[in-house]
Amino acid sequence: MARRRQIYEGKAKILYEGPEPGTLIQYFKDDATAFNAQKKGTINGKGVLNNRISEHVFTLLGNIGVPTHFIRRLNMREQLIRQVEIVPIEVVVRNVAAGSISKRLGIEEGQQLPRTIIEYYYKDDALGDPMVSDEHILCFGWAGQDELHEMADMAIRVNDFLSGMFAAINIRLVDFKLEFGRIWDNDFSRIILADEISPDGCRLWDMTTNEKLDKDRFRRDLGGEVEAYQEVARRLGLLPEGADSAVLDLETHRKKREK
Ligand code: TMP
Repeated sequence: MARRRQIYEGKAKILYEGPEPGTLIQYFKDDATAFNAQKKGTINGKGVLNNRISEHVFTLLGNIGVPTHFIRRLNMREQLIRQVEIVPIEVVVRNVAAGSISKRLGIEEGQQLPRTIIEYYYKDDALGDPMVSDEHILCFGWAGQDELHEMADMAIRVNDFLSGMFAAINIRLVDFKLEFGRIWDNDFSRIILADEISPDGCRLWDMTTNEKLDKDRFRRDLGGEVEAYQEVARRLGLLPEGADSAVLDLETHRKKREK
């Protein structure tokens, strides 16, 4: 069988040519990076979990009318997606202070923000994905005014929906990152949600214990990464019954580390 053509390899995913024009296959790796790939590692089984979690979230978002690149999951690590022209902007939505905003502005982690904040980062590894404003985005033509509005509107809809979805399973959606892409129809383009939504690009805290259930476990060397991702999948109802025993209780994990 001929090897399929690889279109792009990123830090956590690979894109292959899809079966029809305008489609791609998105493959989820176990590779994890942090701090602009200065820290590298693997989280065994992460790709499988993120594929499943992202499928679930994109399907639900599609059901409430948010256009996404997701078509269907193909297997454990792959999904069929629409090919898009990626907008070179990472859209970060914050409900609670954590990570870079806490560091930059000296706001204590865990403090509820008086209002939801949207931030933009220019996707450029060599520059370390610098934060930019809408002025920069318009000035350098990374997105147009209408596109910027569409992305911000969708980000707020996604935030409202996901905040509720996670609250229902006792998880606080602290912040998350979205990416968008353009699809072209002759001379017209429209913006759809692309990339993935998974614990790699979200901060998810248990509402009762504040236990981190996301990639901060890797970034901050807390251990228990797979267990955390599994716990998110389990609460979303994505792991088969009986898989609970495979989930190492994070509290037990923490106590073992402290000994
Ligand atoms: P930050 O606090 O490091 O700016 O991250 C905010 C959110 O965005 C957090 O949930 C992690 C996510 N994120 C990514 O998915 N990719 C990135 O490259 C960065 C910097 C953040």
